[in-house]
Amino acid sequence: MSHFIYNAPYYNAGAKPTQLRNPRENLLDLSDLSRFLLGADTPQELMEDATRHIVDILGVDFCKIILLESNQHFYTRAAYYRNYIVVRNQANLPESKAVEKLFIDILDAGTFFTVNASDKGLTVEERFALGLNSVSRVCILPMCVELNRIGVMVIGDGLGYTLDLQREDTRYLIDLITDQLSNAIYRSRINQQLENFSLESVLALSRTLETRDINSGNHSKGMAELSEKVAIRMKCNTKEVREICWASLLHDIGKIGIEDRILRKPGPLDDAEWERMKTHPLIGAQIVKGISGLESLAPLIESHHERLDGSGYPNHLKGDEIPLGARILAVVDSYCAMTEGRIYRPAIPHEEAIEILIKGRNTVFDPEVVNALVEVLS
Ligand SMILES: [Fe+2]
Repeated sequence: MSHFIYNAPYYNAGAKPTQLRNPRENLLDLSDLSRFLLGADTPQELMEDATRHIVDILGVDFCKIILLESNQHFYTRAAYYRNYIVVRNQANLPESKAVEKLFIDILDAGTFFTVNASDKGLTVEERFALGLNSVSRVCILPMCVELNRIGVMVIGDGLGYTLDLQREDTRYLIDLITDQLSNAIYRSRINQQLENFSLESVLALSRTLETRDINSGNHSKGMAELSEKVAIRMKCNTKEVREICWASLLHDIGKIGIEDRILRKPGPLDDAEWERMKTHPLIGAQIVKGISGLESLAPLIESHHERLDGSGYPNHLKGDEIPLGARILAVVDSYCAMTEGRIYRPAIPHEEAIEILIKGRNTVFDPEVVNALVEVLS
């Protein structure tokens, strides 16, 4: 396909060149883009936001992000079209084989190429795969971070907007944007891999607790589901919701350090046994502190039995001294324990449990958490 690839200046007589903004405005645009790239919660969100911003900043007709995956094939992950349609969530949409060789050539060359719709050498399939059925030119930019090949970004213009690639500042701006985007996608994918690894650790630990105490395992799963809904209701961000959900699964992990005669005692505990049982939040926090990726769960696990008025344990924290995640865990844990019942205490109906939580608002339970739980359950 190299016969129609060229990186010489292009001019489309039918379209107006895009009026690039002044250098100060470009810097502000780039700074905005950086903020978005850093603030995105997931790689998918990052790429979708990025395509929209890039179309705005460069003043082009469309922008596509196409990633090279571990199976050595290219997949369109996000695309934004200025004038007619926004395509989202294109994960697993493979690129046509007709253009894969071109993308590899561009990654090898490490520099951008332009492809012109008027080129006679293009097949219908190539034209369609590159988006040249809707614009008169595409600019394909390699995305790499050091030796890691991320994929390519395809910018389409010439329908109503045309980039003036003869201008040095235009080319410089495109380079900066591509660099920022490549680094952000690379970082985000590494974070996702770490997160998947951490989730596997959480599930393995959770199964360990289940083998010691089947009731704790089931209780934790129920709590995780409910805590997640409460956290979302309280507008926690994605990271906080994930931590609260994982901390719910592991809140009682410290019980694996409690002797069977206490843990499995079929009745109320005596004072000494109770004091021993009350060490489980500290044991649990110590366990997760030692596991890479789960350290941030430690304060939530350590404080899940703290109460707003300082009557809880192990540190008798009060009010805002207790992390929000732990305040959520405390309310949800109490609700689940009351409605599930225990060997030595029968379950109580939902309405009665809610009444107890409402009575405890402001004294032992965070009122906003209780309200969120009531809303979620109604
Ligand atoms: Fe507990």
